[in-house]
Amino acid sequence: MKQLLAQRVQTLTPSSTLAITAKAKELKDQGIDVIGLGAGEPDFNTPQNILDAAIDSMNKGLTKYTPSGGLPVLKKAIIDKLQRDNGLTYSPKEVMVGVGAKHVLYTLFQVILDEGDEVVIPIPYWVSYPEQVKLAGGVPVYIEGTASQNYKITAEQLRSSITEKTKAVIINSPSNPSGMIYSKEELAQLAEVAEEKDILIISDEIYEKLVYNGIKHTSIAQLSKSIKARTIVVNGVAKSHSMTGWRIGYAAGNAEIINAMTDLASHSTSNATTTAQYATVEAYNGPQDTVEEMRQAFDSRLEVIYPKLAAIPGFKVLKPQGAFYLLPDVSEAATKCGYESVDEFAEALLTEANVAVIPGSGFGAPATIRLSYATSLQLLEEAVRRMDEFVQSKWQR
Ligand SMILES: Cc1ncc(COP(=O)(O)O)c(C=O)c1O
Repeated sequence: MKQLLAQRVQTLTPSSTLAITAKAKELKDQGIDVIGLGAGEPDFNTPQNILDAAIDSMNKGLTKYTPSGGLPVLKKAIIDKLQRDNGLTYSPKEVMVGVGAKHVLYTLFQVILDEGDEVVIPIPYWVSYPEQVKLAGGVPVYIEGTASQNYKITAEQLRSSITEKTKAVIINSPSNPSGMIYSKEELAQLAEVAEEKDILIISDEIYEKLVYNGIKHTSIAQLSKSIKARTIVVNGVAKSHSMTGWRIGYAAGNAEIINAMTDLASHSTSNATTTAQYATVEAYNGPQDTVEEMRQAFDSRLEVIYPKLAAIPGFKVLKPQGAFYLLPDVSEAATKCGYESVDEFAEALLTEANVAVIPGSGFGAPATIRLSYATSLQLLEEAVRRMDEFVQSKWQR
C-alpha cells in the first residue's frame, strides 16, 4: 500500500498533556486510586447563568449556522470586554471567534506563515505552539527563559534570535506551564524589539483572569497604538469562566489577518458552535463574580500547597503568579531517587505513587514536572503527601 500519511503529520507529536491524562484514566479504570494533577482545566462547573443562557438560546430556536467569524452580538460582547478589562478598542472587523483559543491560534499560524517562516517560541512553552507552527510550514525558534530568569525571556535574547525569516514572537502571560507573568516594563522591552525588527506579536492571554498576590495582568497591546497594530491578542473563556468544553476562543488585531482567518474558518469549521457562542455572550455580558470566586479558590489552594511542595527533598519551585500550574525542577529528586531522567521519575510518580503529573520535556523544560492545582485542596494535599513519601522512600543516601 502507498504511504498513508502525509509528510506534514509524520513528525506530529500528540499533546503530552492529553496523553498522561489518558494513562491516568486507564489506571483509574483498573480501580487504582490515581490523583490526576495533569489536567489543564478548572475543576468548577460552568456558572449557572451561562448554562441558562445557552438553554434559553436553544429554546428560542437559535441553533443555526452563524457568520464564520462569530455572531455579531458575541463580537460586540468581546469588543466590550477588551475595552472594559484591557482598555483596548477594536471594531468587529478586527475580531474573529473560533473553536477555542487553540483553534484560533492554529488558524492564525495558517494565515500568517509561509514555508520556512520563523516563529520565536519562549521556553518553557505551551505544547501546541511548536506543532501548530510546524503544521503551517513554519519553523519554531526556541529561546530559553531559564529558572534563574523566572522562566521569562529577555529583550536581548529576543533580539538575537531574530533573522530575516522571523515573522512573529509568541508571548504567553500568565504562562502555561510556568505561571509567570511579564511586568509592563518587561513587555515594553520585548515590544521595542518587535518594533525595531518589524515582527508580529502573538499575545496568548488565556490565563488573564487567574493572577494572584495583587498582580495585574497587562496586555502587550495596551502599551501603544503602534504595538497594538502589530499584536494579535488571543483569548477565550475556557479558563476564566470554566468553559473548556464549550470551545470558544477569539483573536483581536489587524483586520487583514482577521479577515483571512475568518475566510479560512469558513472552509474548515463554518462557525464555532452556535449554542456555545450564545453562552459566551452571557459569560462576558453577565455578572463576573463567579470569575473572581474561582480566582480566589485557586489563590488559596496555591498558598497552602506551594510551601508543602517546595519542602519535598530535591524539588526546587518558583512561586507562580498566575494560571493554575506549578513547575518544580525535580532533577535532583529524580537523580537521588535513581532515575535516569525526569520523564522516568514522572512515570514512577504515576505508577508507584499514583499521582499523575506532566513531564516538563513536553514544554521544553526537561528538568521539571507540571502540576495543575485545578483540583480540590484535599486531593492536592494528599498528592503532595504521596510524592513526599515516595521521594523519601527512594532517596539514596
Ligand atoms: C497557553 C494556552 N493557550 C491556549 C489554550 C487553549 O485554550 P482553549 O481551550 O480555548 O482552546 C490553552 C489550553 O490549555 C493554553 O494553556
